[in-house]
Amino acid sequence: MAAPPALTLFLVKGRNMKFAGLFLVFFGLLICQALADTSEHDFIVREKRNTRLCLTKKILTVNGKFPGETIYARKGDTVIVRVHNKAKYNVTIHWHGLSQPRNPWSDGPEYITQCPIQPGANFTYRLFFSEEEGTIWWHAHSGWDRATVHGAIIVHPRKGTVSPYRKPYKEIPIILGEWWKADVREVIAESIQTGAGANISDAFTINGQPGDLYPCSNQSTFTLKVKHGKTYLLRVINAAITTEFFFAIAGHRLTVVGNDASYTKPYTVDFIMITPGQTYDLLVKADSNVGGRYYIAARSYSSTVGIPFDNTTTTAVLEYAVSANTPAFPFLPDYKNTTAASQFVAGVRSLATEAHPVDVPQTIDERILITVSVNLLSCEPGRNCSGPNGDRLSASLNNISFVTPTTDLLEAYYKNTSGVFGTGFPDQPPLFFNFTGENLPGFLLFPKTATEVRVVEYNTSLEIVFQGTNLLARENHPMHLHGNSFYVVGRGFGNFDKDKDPLNYNLVDPAYKNTVGVARSGWAAIRFRAQNPGVWFMHCHLDQHMVWGMNTVFIVKNGNGPKESLLPPPPDMPPC
Ligand code: C2O
Ligand code: CU
Repeated sequence: MAAPPALTLFLVKGRNMKFAGLFLVFFGLLICQALADTSEHDFIVREKRNTRLCLTKKILTVNGKFPGETIYARKGDTVIVRVHNKAKYNVTIHWHGLSQPRNPWSDGPEYITQCPIQPGANFTYRLFFSEEEGTIWWHAHSGWDRATVHGAIIVHPRKGTVSPYRKPYKEIPIILGEWWKADVREVIAESIQTGAGANISDAFTINGQPGDLYPCSNQSTFTLKVKHGKTYLLRVINAAITTEFFFAIAGHRLTVVGNDASYTKPYTVDFIMITPGQTYDLLVKADSNVGGRYYIAARSYSSTVGIPFDNTTTTAVLEYAVSANTPAFPFLPDYKNTTAASQFVAGVRSLATEAHPVDVPQTIDERILITVSVNLLSCEPGRNCSGPNGDRLSASLNNISFVTPTTDLLEAYYKNTSGVFGTGFPDQPPLFFNFTGENLPGFLLFPKTATEVRVVEYNTSLEIVFQGTNLLARENHPMHLHGNSFYVVGRGFGNFDKDKDPLNYNLVDPAYKNTVGVARSGWAAIRFRAQNPGVWFMHCHLDQHMVWGMNTVFIVKNGNGPKESLLPPPPDMPPC
């Protein structure tokens, strides 16, 4: 009879040190298994009446809450979420920032990795927590439903390990959101119908509440009660649909210790700039000698000249003791202050310690240059469009405006069904011009429309350079990749220079993120190893741009053997 594998390895240990290593790995895996948990949640998607800004309307919610509940997990856990669609609309849920190793089936973007869950139907998401530690979040990934269907996911270290900073007294999710008085479905439907930009929002929210500066809102303002001398961990998530924020707290400095579920070097600032999709973990010490009340505030960072934006300010209150005095207000940079935004971003670096190492690809196999543009599409004959010059607004990557298929792309890939997508997403734009200059090739205003994906061999070290263009509107684009986090090795203004710019890359401790802000009239370079086989959506996290087609898909092929291959689909995948 053969000895059990662990014992076999143990027996040969003396002869070969390699086996000793294997034994440790094997035993380590057993321990990790024992330390990992499985938890289960039920998400009932339904409409609920809510009152904000003196007005009551129905919003889509999970379990009747806005924002939805926080999911707590530990690194290595499995979390099962059963979604029951009790609403009148199709819906899907995405686990933003969770890499979902080999399991795109539970990733969520509608028509990319699944057909939507239809009214009355259920689907069970299986979430595998692998490398993430810190803050991520969940949100609907169907239309603009995520405006009200979202919540935090807090990933604690594995049992027996600790975070690199001192345990805070309390940890609090701070979810930044965006509120329309109108039904959000109507807002986006109208914009698609007219071809113009969607109406701007009426308020921003902190943990679901607009705060004191809006009508009918001061009673419900979110209040963080603090004890003098204690340190609080704020897990800030930007869940807004179309808005990047400056965020600050009066009288208190913020120490960034994590972003996008990855630890950073402690970085103390007076304000942060956070794009939709991003998270920042901030330590805040309640060290005011005078006590009292302080505003926590957020307002737009909106870099596009001439484009309307919501210029209101949302507030919460940090409170030592109840008082009738008006809280102090923090300094926030001006709406258009791109310098302030960039300076903040430049200081965010990975922790890069022995316990939390970085693994930046020092050399790359392939570089893809992707232009990121806002464009037009001509108005079809017989239609009335109210975009610029009577055309409709659109957006593109490498001059292809992505067309979302009407059936699941992942399933088409898995089953080898032809006709759903093409594999021709190009590695460079169709034309090199002065992307960030003033003389722009007018014909590029009108992109191609297609469903083109980029296929990547397993284990490729990829560099993607996003190049903003000045085509129709120049602004900061938060590009988000599903299924993989990446190192932001470089950022800059103007045109990327493939000879000079890589010389200044940070290959030592770059931030590790899932959403990178490509600066207005600038570029950003990211690197990662394609080790997660599957179908992964990539898009601008300003949902207006996503709807306009600023998207593509990466298909990472299987490697060798089952451990490097896509899992089979679960039996309950919703049909289209
Ligand atoms: Cu927040 Cu496609 O993601
Ligand atoms: Cu964008």
